[in-house]
Amino acid sequence: MTRLKAIAALIACLGFVAAGPAAAEVDAEKVYKFYCAQCHGLEGKGDGPNVYKDFPVSPRNFTNAAEMDKLSDADMRNVIRDGGPSVSKSPMMPPWGKTISDEEVDALVGHLRKLCACEGKKG
Ligand code: HEC
Repeated sequence: MTRLKAIAALIACLGFVAAGPAAAEVDAEKVYKFYCAQCHGLEGKGDGPNVYKDFPVSPRNFTNAAEMDKLSDADMRNVIRDGGPSVSKSPMMPPWGKTISDEEVDALVGHLRKLCACEGKKG
């Protein structure tokens, strides 16, 4: 019985170690490049390769500090998780809540703040 317990503890321990690296720091730039850059552009200018001539609305230009300052961090989190229509914006901005973890969303918010070099609306 004690031996079983020891094995169980060992397995639990291994599981913890295996989960470790995945839970480690999120590489915001990598996540951004993977999911967002095709529309918002590598540098965040809203000119990604996915944006064709007749795109109904331009993806937000993240380097436009005046526009980005209108959004609080919470606003950004909401629109990233739930998509454009959740904040009365275009459905061309997809919801990512099922694809991207909360930690990654937080990291993306930080990344967008770097791109705009702005602090955003408080609250
Ligand atoms: C399929 C193209 C597309 C992809 C991919 C995309 N977006 Fe967007 N995004 C848009 C469009 C279009 C808008 C503008 C919506 C509007 O103004 O009505 C937008 C707007 C936004 C806004 C501003 C919303 C507001 O309230 O002004 C944020 C923040 C944003 N996107 C973040 C992201 C992040 C982070 C990712 C990656 C996880 C991402 N987007 C991926 C198309 C896209």
